[in-house]
Amino acid sequence: MQQSEIGMIGLGTMGRNLVLNIGDKGFSAAGYDKDFNKLQLLEKEAGERKITAAKSLEEFFSMLKKPRAFIMLVPAGSAVDAIIEEALPYMEKGDIIIDGGNSHFTDTDRRIKDLEGRNIHFMGLGISGGEQGARLGPSMMPGGDKEAYSRLKNVFEALSAKVDGEACVGYMGHGSAGHYVKMVHNGIEYALIQLISESYHLLKTLGLNNDSLADIFEQWNNQELRSFLIEITAGIFRKDEEAEMAGKNKNRRRLIDLIMDRARQKGTGKWTSQDAMNLQVPVPTIDAAVMMRDLSADRDMRIKCSSILKGPSPEYNGNKEEFTRRLKNALYFAMITSYSQGLALLKKASESYGYETDLRKVASIWRGGCIIRASVLNDMLSAFAKAPDLSNLISDANFSGILNSHQSDIRFIAGSAISMGIPVPALLASLSYFDSYRSRWLPANLVQAQRDYFGAHTYERMDKKGIFHTEWLKE
Ligand code: 6PG
Repeated sequence: MQQSEIGMIGLGTMGRNLVLNIGDKGFSAAGYDKDFNKLQLLEKEAGERKITAAKSLEEFFSMLKKPRAFIMLVPAGSAVDAIIEEALPYMEKGDIIIDGGNSHFTDTDRRIKDLEGRNIHFMGLGISGGEQGARLGPSMMPGGDKEAYSRLKNVFEALSAKVDGEACVGYMGHGSAGHYVKMVHNGIEYALIQLISESYHLLKTLGLNNDSLADIFEQWNNQELRSFLIEITAGIFRKDEEAEMAGKNKNRRRLIDLIMDRARQKGTGKWTSQDAMNLQVPVPTIDAAVMMRDLSADRDMRIKCSSILKGPSPEYNGNKEEFTRRLKNALYFAMITSYSQGLALLKKASESYGYETDLRKVASIWRGGCIIRASVLNDMLSAFAKAPDLSNLISDANFSGILNSHQSDIRFIAGSAISMGIPVPALLASLSYFDSYRSRWLPANLVQAQRDYFGAHTYERMDKKGIFHTEWLKE
């Protein structure tokens, strides 16, 4: 009794895989779930590892070494509060609760505050990497009480993915910083997925079959676009439908062509856009990605409008190889702007919420284990190492150079998409983000004039200091 270094409540796929990972690294762990089948499954898979499945919460807490620390991996929302409520009677001063789910950062702040009075540390821990990541090494984004983090540092470091010998985990900052960083990770994830899907749409218009699409993504994955999402995309195009689903049909079709074109979401991308709006940080590529999930889901209306609204029929008559080469550069351009938007949001959030997040550390831990891992993050890490206060990566010498040199490609691709009538809102948002930031002058003077005209909202002047109002109708 009281042997286990760490506990896990919630033994769904993620929780169970993470406990097995803990066991692989030589730590002792206790697991608990209300579902008896999940406990049995853990017991079966635990093998020689120092893992025990507890039959009750009481037993679970009696197994944990003091001061106790446990991770919970349960659906975000009321389930987290319910577990805290049930766990409290067994907990003592100095114990640590770690929420490893995708909780909204404001819930995490509330929980930290509620538990502070009882001297119990509450830590928001972003975990990325899906099932495989949990099992073999995820990217981990813990935040909250620094002392609690120090006590768990060695466990986190052992569990996490490694890149060049560096653990993909680090202290993300005070309060809800860990969950905030994970939320922004997911916002970038939405943007990258949408950009890749738009590229797929364009490539499909060239008449390429799934094998050719897979070949292209495989090639791209060997170049500057090298990333987890590009890699899995190649695999997706090669996947045949399951034999049992194909039934008598001997020619198994590619699964991708059978999947309904209606995207779902759990909300983390939307939260990123919402908080970016609150903090007044532009993240247009992420916004476009969230919008397109909603629009794709409005499938009935799309089907109805497909025979009402008219436009060009997509067809590309130019050089397909050149188009593909330029698309690769356009995608790279847009991916850079997506990370830039997310990291600029993190900088502002860190200042506004007092997180003290180190963006160098964020870029570093996103290099391995997580869904948005990509080789370009190595260069982002170097940019923040050179200039820790960098507000936006697009002003870094290396990245501004890439954006400047690839802009003609994204203009060409955007122009082609527009003339073919193919929706590419995330690519367009990325280009407009670039064009807006490179504009010394924007037509916002007219916005101000109109606001002052109809609502006396005042304006500033270029030639004089102060706040001005004009009686616009007065001669
Ligand atoms: C990760 C993923 C993970 C989850 C997404 C899916 O980093 O491992 O981001 O957290 O798969 O939240 O989100 P949607 O259902 O909203 O696409």
